[in-house]
Amino acid sequence: MPAPGPSGQAAAPSGAAVAPDGAAAAPPDDAGLLTVSLEALAGREGEVVERFYALFFSRHPEVRALFGEHSISEREEMISETLVSVMAHADAEPWLDDNLVAMGRSHAEYGVEGHSYPDFVASMLDTMDGLDLDGWGPDTRAAWERALARITGVMRRAGDEVGGAA
Ligand code: HEM
Repeated sequence: MPAPGPSGQAAAPSGAAVAPDGAAAAPPDDAGLLTVSLEALAGREGEVVERFYALFFSRHPEVRALFGEHSISEREEMISETLVSVMAHADAEPWLDDNLVAMGRSHAEYGVEGHSYPDFVASMLDTMDGLDLDGWGPDTRAAWERALARITGVMRRAGDEVGGAA
């Protein structure tokens, strides 16, 4: 089934949407909200990178040491991969979970601890709040919170399974 268009006018009733391979997909209303906000975000990724890391590192100074001193491209890649994952979640892409599992494992090797994932989600949502995006409001924020919780949940579990700290 194709993902609903940006207007989110999906005919299917909402509820636990399940992609053909059994992976959880965004509820139809969320998919529309996520798509519209990602479109509004186009061209502003640099701003997201700047604001997100300033916030994340000021709230959690201990994680700064996990990042290379000059790893600007990795930091940019982390944000662009987050946005790609939100898009893929909205579109119920079947490859998403394998990708998240691989990233969760590599993050455990970087020394990322499980409790950092909810911290990441909170800083990301607060970063989005500060962008004053067209159409951003409580419903869209809640859709992002659900999407990021699911994305980071898969990464966190994969990290825990390879023996990363809880
Ligand atoms: C949605 C969640 C996240 C996604 C999609 C994500 C994605 C990425 C990507 C794509 C990279 C580039 C290198 C690679 O491919 O492995 C990266 C690097 C990294 N990420 Fe994440 N990440 C997420 C959450 C986190 C969290 C919560 C932490 C906690 C501190 C973290 C810490 C790091 C570190 C330390 C690096 C290596 C940076 C360096 O080499 O300097 N990430 N991340």
